[in-house]
Amino acid sequence: MIDTNSREEWNMADNKRPESMERITTPALAEAFIQEQVAALQKQIGDKKVLLALSGGVDSSVVAALLIKAVGKQLTCVHVNHGLLRKGEPEQVVEVFRHQMDANLIYVDAVDRFLDKLAGVADPETKRKIIGAEFIRVFEEEARKLSGIEFLAQGTIYPDILESGPVKAHHNVGGLPEDLGFELVEPLKMLFKDEVRACGKALGLPDGMVYRQPFPGPGLGVRCLGAITRDRLEAVRESDAILREEFQKAGLAGKVWQYFTIVPDLKSVGVRDGKRTDAWPVILRAVNTVDAMTATVEDVPFALLQKITDRITHEVDGVNRVLYDLTPKPTGTIEWE
Ligand code: XMP
Repeated sequence: MIDTNSREEWNMADNKRPESMERITTPALAEAFIQEQVAALQKQIGDKKVLLALSGGVDSSVVAALLIKAVGKQLTCVHVNHGLLRKGEPEQVVEVFRHQMDANLIYVDAVDRFLDKLAGVADPETKRKIIGAEFIRVFEEEARKLSGIEFLAQGTIYPDILESGPVKAHHNVGGLPEDLGFELVEPLKMLFKDEVRACGKALGLPDGMVYRQPFPGPGLGVRCLGAITRDRLEAVRESDAILREEFQKAGLAGKVWQYFTIVPDLKSVGVRDGKRTDAWPVILRAVNTVDAMTATVEDVPFALLQKITDRITHEVDGVNRVLYDLTPKPTGTIEWE
């Protein structure tokens, strides 16, 4: 059995995963972990209220499902739609958590607010900072509207604590407000990603959420290069949706580590219906890696690349070319920004 009974052990100052803790490799072990955590969360939270920023990513979704099981409506989830999410994601969060799991979910449409703040900003790090700072501001505003909250839940997982790999360590969007005085609840902080996924599956979350590829905090903002405009952002979102759909159909979705599209801020000449066009290229990226420090390029079948090209150039407004990035990391990074 997993030795997770004592919260004292979990909250150890040095944040070390206890050696006695068995790796969660089976549904039965995931079930056992969930039972133990539900009891521990009930003990910690009692009849108090807890708040969670729910992005719809694996970690925050699993924390939400766990807390719904443990304390039900004492949990309030806040989903901030910053306009840089993938197609269908905000809708899925509302569907799964509000409708299927009957959670208290506050959906914040902050799209205009984020895009207005980002207008004309081309520098990648400035864009990241604006997105991170604005996220905290929006979340804080929502938190202040609620009364009686004593706990803040977070989807911290063990690699975040170890700071291994660049996925969270050097790119995090920002963190959450510290000055609200909430006590932290971090039920996944001793788990590795595959264990979090096993728990998500056992908690009944949809596969599309549990086995999701990594997605950067600033979202499509790092894939809409240069200053973000609404039309080019839509080109990123729509082309990404087509790529994901075609990878799903081809059986590549669970196999390739990360795959997405990029739209640079440049146009080239093309031709359509006998007329010259002046439109953007879409760049496809599909990579495999263990720790995101280095990456190799997926050998996507040429016929599939052609099919994706055909769909993107015909279905996405403002696009006349599709390119496949063949560069491993190094010398390229995974993202273009
Ligand atoms: P790079 O581009 O550095 O990406 O090779 C390595 C991994 O980190 C992700 N990434 C980010 N994640 N905020 C994040 O939360 C960011 O700003 C960011 N930039 C890159 C990237 O998707 C890849 O998985």
